[in-house]
Amino acid sequence: MSAGQLIDGKSMAQDVKRELVQRIDRLESETGVRPGLAVILVGNDPASETYVRGKVQDCRDVGIRSELIRLPESTTEEELLGEIDRLNEDPLFHGILVQLPLPRHISAERVIHRIRPEKDVDGFHPINVGKLVIGQESFVPCTPYGIMEMLRRTGISVAGKHAVVVGRSNIVGKPISLLLQQADATVTMCHSRTKDLPSHTQRAEILVVAVGKPHVIGPEHVRPNAVVIDVGINRTPEGKLTGDVDFEAVRPIASYITPVPGGVGPMTRAMLLVNTVRAAERAAGNVRG
Ligand code: GUN
Repeated sequence: MSAGQLIDGKSMAQDVKRELVQRIDRLESETGVRPGLAVILVGNDPASETYVRGKVQDCRDVGIRSELIRLPESTTEEELLGEIDRLNEDPLFHGILVQLPLPRHISAERVIHRIRPEKDVDGFHPINVGKLVIGQESFVPCTPYGIMEMLRRTGISVAGKHAVVVGRSNIVGKPISLLLQQADATVTMCHSRTKDLPSHTQRAEILVVAVGKPHVIGPEHVRPNAVVIDVGINRTPEGKLTGDVDFEAVRPIASYITPVPGGVGPMTRAMLLVNTVRAAERAAGNVRG
């Protein structure tokens, strides 16, 4: 049986990082500016600890200066906002990332609003979200940005295609729908209240799944030769990582498919670095798009 080709996010992310090393060297030699990223972690959620360690290591790999600012669970909102004010003014840091989720006594909304939009490398600030909606240049959230980059690097054309997005989160579903539409796809958005999900997903030439539940998409949801992008990262009872798509069952039907792990995740991490370098280039007046 023929099988969908793997879109190897891990090796693609390595390509992106290699390209960034050169871009960072050029920026530094031309302007004296080395990109810097400040990562704030409040509390010690184990998953968040893993994520932020990964982000700091990624920065180290490509030559971005990074600082991990660890604050105790008991940190007040005012204290965290004060830390952001300090980093907003610090010219050594071009990007600020506050790892989510935050402890319950802190409003993520207030915190995100406080980050200067020019330093918002997560692309979560309403200014950046608004710019994305109206098609102005902005910081695009890393996961949807990574998905668009995966499609581009794989040579998959989007214009005129029917794309179906399952999931309507602010971080993935909404922004990827906008980006696909801006790339001239016809986009259908599905979500938890969608009736007869397969009737929609079966029409998808490009299917993006960002629900956060294991194997909600099986072969009965997938159109022959579809490109299947799986954003889910779920842990099975045995402790293994698995996507929102039943990979083994869907792969024979797809033309291309992303694995979990090793698909969208590594590209998400790489795009945070891209956003940070772009923030530094803009701060240095050395914009390359
Ligand atoms: N927690 C899980 N994903 C993310 C992300 O993309 N950015 C931030 N800041 N926190 C997260």
